Amino acid sequence: MRTHYCGQLRAEHIGETVTLCGWVDRRRDHGGVIFIDLRDRTGIVQIVSDPERTPTSYQRADTLRNEYVVKISGRVSQRPNESLNPRLGTGEVEIYADQIEVLNAVRKQLPFQVSTAESEPVREDLRLRYRYLDLRRERMSRNLQLRHEIIKTLRRYLEDQQGFTEVETPVLTRSTPEGARDYLVPSRVNPGEWFALPQSPQLFKQLLMVAGCDRYYQIARCFRDEDNRADRQPEFTQLDMEMSFMTQEEILALNEDMICHLFKTVQGIELPRPFPRLTYAEAMDRYGSDKPDTRFRLELVDVSDIVKNSGFKVFSDSVARGGIVKILPIPNGNDAISNVRIKPGGDLFKEAETCGAKGLAYIRVRADGAIDTIGAIKDNLTEEQKQEILSRTGARAGHLLLFGAGASDVVNKTLDRLRQVIAQEQGLIEPDKINLLWITHFPMFEWNADEKRLEALHHPFTAPFPDELEDLKTAHAQAYDLVYNGFEVGGGSLRIYQPDIQQQVFETIGLSTEEAYAKFGFLLEAFEYGAPPHGGIAYGIDRLVMLMAGEESIRDVIGFPKTQQARCLLTGAPSKVDNKQLKELHVTSTYKPKSSQQS
Ligand code: AMO
Repeated sequence: MRTHYCGQLRAEHIGETVTLCGWVDRRRDHGGVIFIDLRDRTGIVQIVSDPERTPTSYQRADTLRNEYVVKISGRVSQRPNESLNPRLGTGEVEIYADQIEVLNAVRKQLPFQVSTAESEPVREDLRLRYRYLDLRRERMSRNLQLRHEIIKTLRRYLEDQQGFTEVETPVLTRSTPEGARDYLVPSRVNPGEWFALPQSPQLFKQLLMVAGCDRYYQIARCFRDEDNRADRQPEFTQLDMEMSFMTQEEILALNEDMICHLFKTVQGIELPRPFPRLTYAEAMDRYGSDKPDTRFRLELVDVSDIVKNSGFKVFSDSVARGGIVKILPIPNGNDAISNVRIKPGGDLFKEAETCGAKGLAYIRVRADGAIDTIGAIKDNLTEEQKQEILSRTGARAGHLLLFGAGASDVVNKTLDRLRQVIAQEQGLIEPDKINLLWITHFPMFEWNADEKRLEALHHPFTAPFPDELEDLKTAHAQAYDLVYNGFEVGGGSLRIYQPDIQQQVFETIGLSTEEAYAKFGFLLEAFEYGAPPHGGIAYGIDRLVMLMAGEESIRDVIGFPKTQQARCLLTGAPSKVDNKQLKELHVTSTYKPKSSQQS
């Protein structure tokens, strides 16, 4: 039907007759000369029609409206100097339309202007409701293309350079141990029984190692019923990998090479190697987060030891109860951040409150070096303690020191949040900077206060360091996360392959042998038949693409994403089903809409 794509045409095509197909991005009538911006996946090219030069197409050109689908044949010509458009790849040329054929018209009012030439920002719910129109737009089409390039490059690297085999694993399966809620599917032929959609292919990829597959990967869809955020979707895509007979160092080296290859191939960016590494403990200590954004400094400083015996009860009690006191030192903070903002009701105070903090003590170092504090600190820290704090935090004239005191998780969460908010507002983040780092040495377990038991920080198949087996409760895991500008884009570990260690881990998290067998018996059984040492990792493809595309939400790099409320506005899913269907599935709904509950 066509000879070229719209976005391909350049000065070298001048004089050729071409046939193009696409959508009318815009039609402009300049006193009898009609200009049509014709758009396809590759871009836009300008079509011209007027009664003198293109009498055969003029009448048809006049009937065109935005988003009509058309086929146009004509001569490629040099644009006059005054209408050259350096912002457009095709900006040196225009096509004199000899023939215009309307392949399809638009029969309804467009819900929004598809053309981005002069349109206003469009509400996200409208974009999602008419996603096919949204995807016609350049930014979204570019994002989908980038996503494709990224996945293609990863596949090529893993298959052609590293000998990985892609194996598909089931979507109708049993619950997998990633810790979120499962999506369940009732079985019609097995009344009363349910499949779970996989939260990851974790157990199958380990079985594939027992099966001798050696190097497995999969672009795998995963399902997790959890609260959605800008970087979370109920269904998302992982690049999932598992390898046999490799040490942690070998796995990290291969992965670093893959990520460097990806950036080089897709974006022409040479990443510095090796990637920096932080242990989990260092990351929590210095940044209050296991996914720190290291594009800027603003590092936290622990002062628990200095203030533990101070007369300020908030500090001394926090330390006495096993908590911590930490400081976020902000150079120039004295001028930039007013008291109103850090006192109750202020915006920074509220940020701290949402993280569970009860208050925000502070020290200001005035321009003349004088120290200024709020009442309680002023009266209850000795001069010596204040000086020690200044010297440990490196505070100079102009600094503002914000304190977090209490349970370590609340303090870290609060100061991490404030660190990010302040870096944003002070413009400390260079938008083009790319920081990738590994976090290693995670603890094996964390305390679940609700259930009053230890639980696996990653999942219960993660291997501890062999020299820490004596006291498993405090042992560290041979696990690693890849962090990209403050987002966790990947995570994995070496796995346990000896039954006795697996048994100890189950005991530590309070899982009896019977319970463990009921849940994962098929994997534990497989391990009795000769399991190789193995380990792996999974990357969140959506997050990786989002960051590489410079977007702020993974919804902008997924073809058909769900809303915050886990709905697809385009298809209307989830939706009601017939009672007959439910009956066949042996399911009844206990849900009562609010109105019927009242009546
Ligand atoms: P994990 O649970 O850390 O590990 O997931 C791996 C990566 O998947 C991405 N991710 C998500 N992306 C979008 N929406 C979500 N709801 C979501 N949840 C996770 C993150 C994360 O780093 N089986 C293990 C991997 C392994 O041990 O090999 C696993 O799934 O980028």
